[in-house]
Amino acid sequence: MDFLPHDLLEAIARQVGTPCYVYDQGRIAQNYARLAKALAPSAEVGRVCYSVKANSNLSVLRLMRNLGTGFDVVSGGELRRALLAGAATDSIVFAGVGKRDDELVAALDAGVGWINVESAQELRVLSDLAAARGVVQRVALRINPGIDPHTHRYLATGKRASKFGIETEESLRLVAHRADYPGISIEGIHIHIGSMVSDAGPYAEAMRVALAVVAQYRMLGATITTLNLGGGFGVAYQPDQAEAPIEAIASNILPLARKADLRLLFEPGRAIVADAGALLTRVLYTKTNGNVRYVVVDAAMNDLIRPALYGAAHQVSLVSSVSDVLEVSGVSLVSGVSVVGPVCESGDVLAEGVMLPEPRRGDLLVIHHAGAYGMSMASNYNTRPRAAEVLVADGKWQVIRRRESIEDLVAHEVEC
Ligand SMILES: Cc1ncc(COP(=O)(O)O)c(C=O)c1O
Repeated sequence: MDFLPHDLLEAIARQVGTPCYVYDQGRIAQNYARLAKALAPSAEVGRVCYSVKANSNLSVLRLMRNLGTGFDVVSGGELRRALLAGAATDSIVFAGVGKRDDELVAALDAGVGWINVESAQELRVLSDLAAARGVVQRVALRINPGIDPHTHRYLATGKRASKFGIETEESLRLVAHRADYPGISIEGIHIHIGSMVSDAGPYAEAMRVALAVVAQYRMLGATITTLNLGGGFGVAYQPDQAEAPIEAIASNILPLARKADLRLLFEPGRAIVADAGALLTRVLYTKTNGNVRYVVVDAAMNDLIRPALYGAAHQVSLVSSVSDVLEVSGVSLVSGVSVVGPVCESGDVLAEGVMLPEPRRGDLLVIHHAGAYGMSMASNYNTRPRAAEVLVADGKWQVIRRRESIEDLVAHEVEC
């Protein structure tokens, strides 16, 4: 979050408290504009459907709606959020490997544009539910292209044996017998190869697989109009990491889609919001144990699970120090610092090997690139209230989610 001034971040931290997520509206808009220009330059070519799971705050979703995105949702809850944000119902794509009947009914009742179906059983359930309501739902079948996207194993979703999607052979059987499913109309294919994909190769490969499958569906008489190529575009969390070459990916894919008369859908999340968000946290204590320099901060794995879950490495830097020494140039840097949270788990490490000016109690740190899969994956582990969220637009900021209280946390518990 180099684009927001440090004095603004310090003012937010002082008034809202820490830990606190801060998002930059201008950067979100810029990221979306780049993706839309490359991947969906016109409505005929396709559409970018923001992946709500990356950051599902209602104000962020309203911003997305105003920017013109569609919405990729994966639960009844995300569907509700998209609707609350004013999403056009036909711009919503409902995906997910385990949709409950009530969630499918909610999607049918809302009239979502697409439901991405991930098993033969789901197709049957959906068709029955739709037929009972006298509607025909447009669906895409999610297939596993069997591609290795060269990413963390938890982020690879399109491999053959992954829990997602339908095997291609089975999908062909479903297309051949589509007349047995009167409540659905199979009009698309959905592929999501994984997340944090940082080169164009896997997308080109996914496109090749998709076109072969579309050709087979069409040979079976199906009218396939749309190819949803998912999201997963990588971002550079560290200076030595590569971000996905969006323009190169687009220039591989778009001409092929046009030739095959296919409209494209994309579902990026991270590439729109990751670098537009940061987590502000204050230093509680510093100490050295067994030669490791620890900086204990007030944010923890419950606020940002990515380092513990995926071994993700976020950059951390100092926003402001309680020490005047820092005003003097040539401040000595402490290298190899471990930034850890208060949660009672050894895995509660937010960043390792960080280079910081001599950290002191009360210093304000910023954990960068925390706009995606930060707050949306936060939990209340250790009965820690979830952080506040702030949106900055044109130099002004506003709390878009107040910090939880302990009362909020116990509110649903029933005494017995
Ligand atoms: C089906 C699907 N689409 C889109 C996304 C968004 O991925 P990303 O935020 O990496 O773009 C995901 C992430 O898990 C996903 O599973």
